[in-house]
Amino acid sequence: MSAAAKELKHMNKPRHFLTQLDLTPLELRQIINRATELKAMRDRGEDYRPFVGKNLAMIFEKSSTRTRVSFEAGMTQFGGNAMFLSPRDTQLGRGEPIEDSARVISRMVDIVMIRTYSHDIVESFAKHSRVPVINGLTDQYHPCQLLADMQTWFEYRGDIRGKTVAWIGDGNNMCHSYINSARQLDFKLHIACPEGFDPDPGILAPASDHCEIFRDPMEAAKGADLIVTDVWASMGQEEEQKQREAAFDGFQVNSEMMGQANRDALFMHCLPAHRGEEVTADVIDGSASVVWDEAENRMHAQKALMEFLLT
Ligand code: CP
Ligand code: NVA
Repeated sequence: MSAAAKELKHMNKPRHFLTQLDLTPLELRQIINRATELKAMRDRGEDYRPFVGKNLAMIFEKSSTRTRVSFEAGMTQFGGNAMFLSPRDTQLGRGEPIEDSARVISRMVDIVMIRTYSHDIVESFAKHSRVPVINGLTDQYHPCQLLADMQTWFEYRGDIRGKTVAWIGDGNNMCHSYINSARQLDFKLHIACPEGFDPDPGILAPASDHCEIFRDPMEAAKGADLIVTDVWASMGQEEEQKQREAAFDGFQVNSEMMGQANRDALFMHCLPAHRGEEVTADVIDGSASVVWDEAENRMHAQKALMEFLLT
């Protein structure tokens, strides 16, 4: 590549995926459909390696099973390489500014995924990165999980436009990403949270025509096509576990709550789950639950996302 072409390449701002709002509704639908295509190709054993010689840097400041395995396996299937970076063994953990880390890392790799605490960190990284940045979960959002959840819904039930989803539990990062998805994919979201655990009003307000807050989870579940929950204490809130267990009393997704939903309603959970807390074992291990497909789809959805961002 000539010096001028190189310069031009770096003047073009890369696309990032920090929230569902970084893609248009059409792009989201295209990625979801492509994810299902890539899944079929993998199942047929087709050799499709568009990323030979490409590197994904994965920065994890929080624990992960699904996100790490899905990105790493997906990148390897595409013929590329994924490197795991933990703050414990990089200069990130010794206070090197995120802006400097972004400038340096993005000159060496083709795409970056970050899982961290404050959403500002991924925003700063993206601002100073030459390559696409993917949010692998922050305290505010979990957009990759929503790609997988939507792919799973589309595979089981077709388009989600006009359907009713009930979010039962904490107004957390997953709930925020459901709110943004309701806006983008045009479904109705019932949000049942105990008082004091509502989603961020700044995220909710622009989606107000798609969302409704309930204090009674049984009411929220009524007429739902999909029931979703998540842990009551997210990563970083471990010391609030006991207090949260008390606050979320009555918010457990159990068979009685599933009984309020439509007859063919599905159940999703991003995992890891705490059986006997936010969901009973008979629901998560029961016939309405699609959590294992949902988890697998992380890999297919993120492959489609990386392909979109890099090509
Ligand atoms: N759902 C999810 O993001 O799982 P991990 O924390 O295991 O990555
Ligand atoms: N809300 C959870 C999601 C884990 C995938 C957390 O942030 O810990």
